Amino acid sequence: MAGINQNYKKLAAGYLFPEIARRTKEFQKKYPDRELKRLGIGNTTEALTPAIVEGLIKGVNNLADPSTYSGYGDEQGNTTLRRVLSEYYNSKGITLSPDDFFISDGAKPDSSNIQSIFSPDSVIAIQDPAYPVYVDSNVISGRTGEYSSIIGEYDGLIYMPCTEENNFFPDIPDKKVDLIYLCSPNNPTGAVATHKQLAGFVKYARENKSVIIFDAAYSEYISDLSLPKSIFEIEGAKECALEINSLSKFAGFTGVRLGWTVVPEELIVEGTKPGEVRDMWNRRQCTFFNGASNIVQEGALAVFSEEGLKESGNLVNYYMENAKIIMKGVTSIGITAYGGVNAPYVWIKTPGGISSWDFFDKLLSETGVIGTPGSGFGPGGEGYFRLSAFGHREDIEAAVNSIKKDLKI
Ligand code: MLT
Repeated sequence: MAGINQNYKKLAAGYLFPEIARRTKEFQKKYPDRELKRLGIGNTTEALTPAIVEGLIKGVNNLADPSTYSGYGDEQGNTTLRRVLSEYYNSKGITLSPDDFFISDGAKPDSSNIQSIFSPDSVIAIQDPAYPVYVDSNVISGRTGEYSSIIGEYDGLIYMPCTEENNFFPDIPDKKVDLIYLCSPNNPTGAVATHKQLAGFVKYARENKSVIIFDAAYSEYISDLSLPKSIFEIEGAKECALEINSLSKFAGFTGVRLGWTVVPEELIVEGTKPGEVRDMWNRRQCTFFNGASNIVQEGALAVFSEEGLKESGNLVNYYMENAKIIMKGVTSIGITAYGGVNAPYVWIKTPGGISSWDFFDKLLSETGVIGTPGSGFGPGGEGYFRLSAFGHREDIEAAVNSIKKDLKI
């Protein structure tokens, strides 16, 4: 008799964003005339830039012409795109081979799939709060025990608290862990790790033969040149880290879909030689993935053209201006807020210390603004709330005005 994967039953609740969508729908049904302002999921809103559109059209035209038509591509991605990506990293002083790059349909699938190449009994350490995919993918894979609704934690997971006291970047684990998920700029707190902080984790990982899974999906939002955009800026990181990135937030590819994972040849784990971990990710992708869309990869190539980079930089500036407006607005009414400077997320402390979900309901009913409850990112997010800077300027301004005018604090 067939059975289901019982680990799914351990999952604490529905996935965070569908849960927000469900509650929002309920609210809309009850109050159909209320106008909503969406600062919840980090979903880009601005149109694709001209250079990218041209690239995508080129991709379509290639497929429309028998002389340039191509079917399946390499599972690892278009050779030119992998070279262009390695050159992009090289231009920032990071030497990586095109063979270290694996193109995919986004950072979310890569961050959930990557755990599959590591030992099933790996001990997992995650920042708390964190992007829920890291936890859920390891729960489903059986690396955790049950969820305790009292403490909001899964048994067997190592939670690395990110608090006001440590500027939302965790201390190094005080015990041995195998896989460490780090995200910088951080989703949800907007905190960015310094070189020194990352160097501490790299040292720990090398000493303990751990692997750092570094999510750099928001790296292009860093404007402070003293802050690292890639874990590979840290000496020794190639032996103990891999990195996941995406064009979603950089170039508006949330609906277009393109990401990449860098698995350096140098990366080693217990009992492997250089290249073996990379070969294993290659094997995984060749087995389960048929490569990113040919059309989308043309669009991605256009992102890294001179014009494409300039236009995407302007998109980032646009969203960061939104972040500034949100920060200024919420702090002007006495709300404590973090992030929002080198990251498109503003992490606020719920006024009066109310719970994250209670604040979700209060904000929605009083202002029509939808945000994301901090507790949805882990127990450490309780008492916090995330506002996303992805939105049309007029919607962001309307949301901030409404918070200033209607929120009762
Ligand atoms: C978020 O809002 O946290 C992210 O945009 C969701 C995602 O990238 O999957």
